[in-house]
Amino acid sequence: MQYTSKILMRKWREFWTSKDHKEIKGASLIPADNTVLFTTAGMQPLIPYLLGQPHPLGKRLFDIQPCLRTNDIDEVGDNRHHTMFFMLGNWSIGDYFKKEAITWSYEYLTDPKWLNIDPAKLAVTVFEGDDTVPRDTTSAELWEKCGIPKERIYFCPRSDNWWEIGGGIGPCGPDTEIFYDTGKPACSDTCGPQCDCGKWVEIWNNVFMEFNVPHAGAQLEKLPQQNVDTGMGLERIEAVLNGYDSTFRNECFKRPIEILETLSNKKFDFENEFGKYFCIISDHIRASVFLLGDIQPTTPGNVGQGYILRRLIRRAVNCARKLEFDPKELVKVADAYVQYYKEDFENFATVEKFILDEIAKEIEKFEKAIEGGIREFNRITESMKSGDMIDGKTAFHLFDTFGFPLDLTVDLALERGIKVDKAGYDSAFSEHQQKSRDNSGAMFKGGVAEAHSEEEKLALRRLHSATHLMLAALRRIVGDTVEQRGSNITPERLRFDFTCDHKLSKEELTAVENMVNEQINRDLPITCEEMTVDEARASGAIGIFDDKYGDKVKVYTMGDFSKEICGGPHAEHTGELGHFKILKEESSSSGVRRIKAVLE
Ligand code: ALA
Repeated sequence: MQYTSKILMRKWREFWTSKDHKEIKGASLIPADNTVLFTTAGMQPLIPYLLGQPHPLGKRLFDIQPCLRTNDIDEVGDNRHHTMFFMLGNWSIGDYFKKEAITWSYEYLTDPKWLNIDPAKLAVTVFEGDDTVPRDTTSAELWEKCGIPKERIYFCPRSDNWWEIGGGIGPCGPDTEIFYDTGKPACSDTCGPQCDCGKWVEIWNNVFMEFNVPHAGAQLEKLPQQNVDTGMGLERIEAVLNGYDSTFRNECFKRPIEILETLSNKKFDFENEFGKYFCIISDHIRASVFLLGDIQPTTPGNVGQGYILRRLIRRAVNCARKLEFDPKELVKVADAYVQYYKEDFENFATVEKFILDEIAKEIEKFEKAIEGGIREFNRITESMKSGDMIDGKTAFHLFDTFGFPLDLTVDLALERGIKVDKAGYDSAFSEHQQKSRDNSGAMFKGGVAEAHSEEEKLALRRLHSATHLMLAALRRIVGDTVEQRGSNITPERLRFDFTCDHKLSKEELTAVENMVNEQINRDLPITCEEMTVDEARASGAIGIFDDKYGDKVKVYTMGDFSKEICGGPHAEHTGELGHFKILKEESSSSGVRRIKAVLE
């Protein structure tokens, strides 16, 4: 029998309904709380309930949740990585725990009425325990009772069998993971589920969430209730059940890949050099369709989610060029997805035209920008060989003259085994910025005009931007009760006062430092928009909402990380800031703390 995603979704619904679970509608790909760019796991929209708030639909829930993970974006192109995927999940919100979760998982996987997997093909891992949380012998015993023999129950450390959301704050706990034997020969005597040679594929994760980390640096604490959070990747299970060598053989990719074969006049095959382009296009266009067709649609842009969407479409365009067809035809691939999914995602039917038009518009924009750039890139790299490096000035020239983004230069160079001097690019970029500032002779508010030298002006801009990053990091790590109370910047350091009811711990300070430096390393673009105070508020900007700046305020956005009202001026990219370091944290007045920090 062929298992399609539609059949698997139906079975999932029937099974959990038969166990008295209620279906919750898949949430938007854009999380409501804005702390991360995208919904990356089914449990994300359920965090308040896992922490104790009653859910209106009760204590037993399940869903089919589209998720998007961008950390793997560069891995897409092999036989199994995706940016967007569906996660099937079931939850106990303080209701059943290990016994039911494990017994039902086993029943769902092996019972002929459900997935009918031969139990001999399964292995499981469980948490081996550490200083804070004991070894999970309960789960191991339950698996054994179900029929998994002892030798296929593996005890593994926290790095394998502990689940927490990225950042490590929030509900968490030990997990038990279920693996499927693809039948490939073992790579060694020690080959097991933890090995990624391809013999074992993880198909389902059951997390026993009875712990919580309330904020960074806090000790693990027990939640008042015991929860179960599970996640099964739909793409994976479909490929496994059908014995496919790749998730890209799944039904939803069939039509898009056929279209690509026709357009390119090439056969989809992992063994040839073109296989990866088929995968990248199929993945990225599907993710783009879901971002545009979401109940909170994302449109291509230069920051946040819009930037990711732009990047997905533009990468697909690059692959279309590799497959030697007109990138405008990618709209046909998008249309194939819309037709395939519109029955299950009602929203698609009403926004069909919008999805396709936006993709077409973005392709056209990009095509215009890069036509000249590609010619120039080819000229530059003509005489280069694998291992050579494009210097920073040349990479910047491609950007400056042809609008050719650095990541495109890097992508194209990578295909030829050529490196790009990114640090050199950054300094060429900063040098250019400084020159244009010097030439414009611009005067700035906020103390910069008083600064003596251009160098000092630049230092002030950077520290100003670092202050925004630090406030955003403090709000993520300490909590969103943190608000600005005062800021004073000299060319040497920043000083920042903010509301907080406790002395920050060493861990909290290190976490803030690391988070700021991470954003610096991401080289986020810093953009400024003028808007009314009300618009600024509605856009989610933080800052002091008085009319100090007149009717219109400036809102500075740093990628997906910070949005704040401010008079400026700022750096243009976070990459210009250097290394952020906190020198001192002290009391300023009652309920107000003060941080002094520098950029090195
Ligand atoms: N939250 C768990 C995961 O994403 C189930 O793997």
